[in-house]
Amino acid sequence: MSKAAVLILLGPPGAGKGTQARMLEEDFGLVQLSTGDLLRAAVAAGTEAGQRAKAVMEAGQLVSDDIVLAILQDRMAEPDTAKGIILDGFPRTAGQAEALDGLLATAGQEVTAAISLDVVDEAMVARVSGRYTCAKCGEGYHDEFKKPAQAGTCDKCGGADFKRRADDNAETVRERLNAYHAQTAPLIAYYGEKGVLKSVDAMGPIADIRAALSQIVKTASV
Ligand code: AP5
Repeated sequence: MSKAAVLILLGPPGAGKGTQARMLEEDFGLVQLSTGDLLRAAVAAGTEAGQRAKAVMEAGQLVSDDIVLAILQDRMAEPDTAKGIILDGFPRTAGQAEALDGLLATAGQEVTAAISLDVVDEAMVARVSGRYTCAKCGEGYHDEFKKPAQAGTCDKCGGADFKRRADDNAETVRERLNAYHAQTAPLIAYYGEKGVLKSVDAMGPIADIRAALSQIVKTASV
């Protein structure tokens, strides 16, 4: 990976990390790296890492740092990341944040901005349990907040098959929120101390949050 922008989206399940990361890809030509997507691909492929991660993910707990770091490191070694990356769902623990700093330092890079998507926990259960994605291209939708323009047809690729995640039920979302507050929220202070923390109110309309993020990215000279 050559020297390029490294953006981190921090926030609990449902904060809009994936939704906004895909929009930043479109707006700035960056590449979204979602450890959740990478882990779900490993589970679907039945790799050893995927088999170890499956039950942990279904319980709403965090997968161990060694598995996540191995998967992320492989993905970061691919050439398209030279365009700059948006880390969605990573880092999630102090150990992951420190490992990321080490990886970036080896490549002569550093975190450009860590952006906290600030939301109210109670609203996240409704956001996550109403979520579904296009089975063909992965575009995300919501039963209430983000419907396709034409019901049953993906806006992006025209696909007609949609899927829901196994961990998107109210009980597991609460476990995921607990894991976020116990293990990930402390990273807000970590990046604050490094001077790269930005915060966005992520309770408003998706388009307003996109505009606020775009402003941050432009100011960070991406
Ligand atoms: P992961 O896939 O990362 O899930 P998550 O962090 O729980 O986040 P979500 O994908 O649920 O939410 P999001 O913030 O992306 O919201 P979205 O944009 O989709 O992780 C899953 C699991 O994998 C973890 O529990 C863990 O087990 C494991 N894992 C992953 N990374 C790991 C790591 N680094 N270390 C250890 N374990 C790891 O939006 C949600 C819905 O709301 C959508 O329908 C969207 O349309 C809608 N929406 C978005 N924004 C708005 C808005 N402003 N208003 C209204 N609706 C909105």
